[in-house]
Amino acid sequence: MTATGTPGWIDVDLTMPGTEYRALLEAALRLKSLPQQDKRVLLDGRAVYFMFFNQSLRTRSSFHTGLEKLGGHAVHLDPANGIYTPALPGQEIPYATERVSDVAQVLSQYGDAIAIRMYGEPAGWVYGGANRFIHEFAKHADIPVINMECDRFHPCQALADAMTMHEHTGGDLRGRKLTISWAYSGSWHKPVAVPQSALLSAAKLGMEITLAHPPGFELDPEVMAAAQGFAAESDATIRLTHDFEDGLAGSELVYAKSWCSLDMLPADRSGTVDEAGMTALFDKHRDWRVDERAMALAAPGAAYLHCLPADRDQEVTDAVIDGPGSLVFRQAANRLHAQNAVMTRLMNPAGMP
Ligand code: CP
Repeated sequence: MTATGTPGWIDVDLTMPGTEYRALLEAALRLKSLPQQDKRVLLDGRAVYFMFFNQSLRTRSSFHTGLEKLGGHAVHLDPANGIYTPALPGQEIPYATERVSDVAQVLSQYGDAIAIRMYGEPAGWVYGGANRFIHEFAKHADIPVINMECDRFHPCQALADAMTMHEHTGGDLRGRKLTISWAYSGSWHKPVAVPQSALLSAAKLGMEITLAHPPGFELDPEVMAAAQGFAAESDATIRLTHDFEDGLAGSELVYAKSWCSLDMLPADRSGTVDEAGMTALFDKHRDWRVDERAMALAAPGAAYLHCLPADRDQEVTDAVIDGPGSLVFRQAANRLHAQNAVMTRLMNPAGMP
């Protein structure tokens, strides 16, 4: 919640009850199906401030395009160059940074929402640090704050993925077999946000989930416990395996991507990432790669998912990601529709279909 109690969109995967999440998914699908003439004034005159502390193709493009299709206006604020970099107390540099509480209160005077992406290096790789940074914005803003991916969650990606799986399977996802698997990459820099949000989302949707990763790539225990709680409500099941082939066996939906080892991240900003340990751990598991042989272990006609960007020939081969079972571009397309639903819910709830 923000300073005035305005609802935001930060930890929704962790906090939103399953009933509400399933209703949101249905509403997002209804919003997507509306003709454009019914959508173009939903956010008429609204301004949203976008801050990306990390690179982005899909999130940046789909948010901006989606907002403009709903009649709103995107203001891009580059934290590195265009503005005084928002900073927390203790991390400030005179006339180079500006305290987050000040930035949040100023932007609240002008516009209708603030959207932030931050993970990894900008937060010193301290797990949870970027999430706390976004919460600090929300604490001082009088307008909704939207998480466009932090070091814990990527809620817009998870909603788009849920829409994609719903469309692909023809509806109800209860009992559908989803594998969320770690995959090898030549870079260790991908956060755990996508698998954590995917797990929580699938648990609310009642899916039969297999979480597959080598030892050392465990997800946040708080997320694992919350997922079990959501699963108990929705009749989802969660199975953990450390065997890649076992993880894929019989799966209908294979969501395989890389993520970093939380064990190798520093406890606070005075520490550093154990890069040697991280790289050694990654290199031990180069065979966690989704190729046609791996997909043959899954159910006949199984689909492949990835949030993109994918590291081709490392996480996945061209034959799989460009093959007939790949849903990656439908996932990317649904980012726009999922985020349109999120922005409408936050800035014009009466406009939600
Ligand atoms: N999947 C995703 O968030 O893509 P970008 O990093 O390009 O925004």
